[in-house]
Amino acid sequence: MRWVVELTESFESIFKTKLARLLITNRFGKSIYVFNELDSTQDYANALPTTESVHGTIVIARKQNMGKGRIGKSWVSPEGGLWMSIVIRPDFSADNIIFTQFIGALAVADAIHQTTKIRSRLKWPNDVLIKEKKVCGILVDVNLESKDKKIVMGLGLNANIASSLINDYLTADNTRATTIREEYGNDIDLVNLTKSIVDKIEYYYYDFLSSGKALEIIALWKNKSDMFGRRAIVYDGIEKIIGEVIDIAQDGSLLMKLGDESIRKITYFRNITFR
Ligand code: BTN
Repeated sequence: MRWVVELTESFESIFKTKLARLLITNRFGKSIYVFNELDSTQDYANALPTTESVHGTIVIARKQNMGKGRIGKSWVSPEGGLWMSIVIRPDFSADNIIFTQFIGALAVADAIHQTTKIRSRLKWPNDVLIKEKKVCGILVDVNLESKDKKIVMGLGLNANIASSLINDYLTADNTRATTIREEYGNDIDLVNLTKSIVDKIEYYYYDFLSSGKALEIIALWKNKSDMFGRRAIVYDGIEKIIGEVIDIAQDGSLLMKLGDESIRKITYFRNITFR
């Protein structure tokens, strides 16, 4: 009698093996953690001890139970999305941290284009939009104080999910959500998408950020944004600033021209609405 033994490989091991095989990076993704579920990849990556979180370490979860967004918001993270945090051991000054958000957004926009041919647009400082709706948000946690200097870049990309699952949540932020499934009309291979993002992050990191060409990142970023020349209302948590978005300053902040022609530098906002 012959016995047929069926071995089913887990999501985690299939994802990890395929990603490791596909990546063409030298530094990013040399250490990969994949989980079926986590509370938050960001919390997990932040808590990893130094020895287990070398530069370029990636943490991915199929779903998150307590995903974290910007300004203390929660981030809805059902199965089908790409929920990933990347550990960066920075070799540049603290002034350049804002640029890590820019390179994350650039990498995601490139990867979406590579995978689907869809051209997404960027919203300052770190959102990726398709047809004015948010498809990806980026959260950057920074710890440069202790000996264990690290930046954790969290990417939340609504890929193979119905936007109805997340839209109610995002209206509070004045930005509707969308998903790749909705815009592309199909689901995409999450491992290929991840590979593409990580390859691009490495490219932007080494060719620009850590080689003293951070300002070129601004030019690349601006090229992918439709914000300029538009009237906007920015709420920074204290006041509403109304004006025209005119540029990105050399330190990465947003420059707005107000009604009295004065220029206001925005370094932080809770939400921004375009007219
Ligand atoms: C935003 O508010 O726009 C940023 C959202 C960032 C969500 C991602 S999903 C992977 C990582 N883990 C988290 O808990 N948050 C980030």
